[in-house]
Amino acid sequence: MQLTVNGAPRELDIEPNAPLLWVLRDELGLTGTKFGCGVGLCGACMVHIDGVATRSCITPLSQVAGKSITTIEALSPTSAHAVQQAWVAEDVVQCGYCQSGQIMAAVALLRATPKPSDADIDAKMTNLCRCGTYPRIKKAIHRAAAALAAAGQKA
Ligand code: FES
Ligand code: FES
Repeated sequence: MQLTVNGAPRELDIEPNAPLLWVLRDELGLTGTKFGCGVGLCGACMVHIDGVATRSCITPLSQVAGKSITTIEALSPTSAHAVQQAWVAEDVVQCGYCQSGQIMAAVALLRATPKPSDADIDAKMTNLCRCGTYPRIKKAIHRAAAALAAAGQKA
């Protein structure tokens, strides 16, 4: 099966019903994407598939053949993406486990809605955080939106 992961073409000989999350972590060594619930609820496993934020634990490999997958590792090699910088500035992270998924969801939200309201964030950010970092996530998304707008950039 052929797919593109973080801009590089990959050819894999794996059962087509294998979850994408397993393939990313165990076959390709991309461990920034986390396993939380494994049943599509928590969002720890969020990646972008052709730009759409998607829970990789419930996405079989067969669904991503020929598609382009982006993981947290490819957002920025130096963590300099505006969303990552906003996360640092707002000191969002507590234990950190959910945060790569949160950031991938936030980037997708800002691409679709560059200036989101609190209601937009509540509606689109469906990832769970056991540490309750939701208020800081919201502030960081607003900060990233303002920084991107000031720089004339897109997420
Ligand atoms: S690990 Fe995929 S949604 Fe929880
Ligand atoms: S920061 Fe601990 S689960 Fe979200």
